[in-house]
Amino acid sequence: NIYWILYILLGYLLGSIPFALVIGKLFYKTDIRNFGSGNLGGTNAGRVLGKKAGISVIACDILKVVAAVGIVSIFDREASIWAGLAAAFGHCYPIFAGFRGGKAVATMFGFLLSTSIFTFQNAWYVIVPLIFFLIVLYLGKMVSLASMIAAFTSSLYITYMQMNTSIEVVLASWLLSVLVIYRHRSNIKKIREGNENKITWL
Ligand code: G3P
Repeated sequence: NIYWILYILLGYLLGSIPFALVIGKLFYKTDIRNFGSGNLGGTNAGRVLGKKAGISVIACDILKVVAAVGIVSIFDREASIWAGLAAAFGHCYPIFAGFRGGKAVATMFGFLLSTSIFTFQNAWYVIVPLIFFLIVLYLGKMVSLASMIAAFTSSLYITYMQMNTSIEVVLASWLLSVLVIYRHRSNIKKIREGNENKITWL
């Protein structure tokens, strides 16, 4: 189906919008790539610019995936799953920011949220990783570790508790988990060395 190329392209382009860069430059006159971890994500926006910026970036990054999946699902429900995956990929390798983007955490959450809404799947695969994220964040104070464990947990959960979940979502979620882990290479190194950034407000 030739339209699939368009749907996936739309997902990639929406995901490529680098909200951490846009919000940082527009409202704070700051390019957050030069500060903190240098990552174009909600965590680094929060670290460098403050909580309000962090939450705004996370919300926008979630919404761009919801938009991709939502729009495409009007035309083709199955394709919308791959458009969501493409959006998360675009977030990591954005055409609008020199292919250096974020780590696919908020966007993976956006993928879970939007596929569960627009393709009528099991809502628990949105809630379970969120609970794991909060528990690991509370215990370890590292967003990176909590994100990786939450991503992995969601894929495991989706795989084993497959009720109302299509095989496409199972596959896409594993691809996303691998992407999340791969994008956290520098964090994994820092965690092992014991000098990963920790949040102070929890
Ligand atoms: O938002 C991604 C998070 O898991 C890690 O971000 O900036 O601490 O490398 P950062």
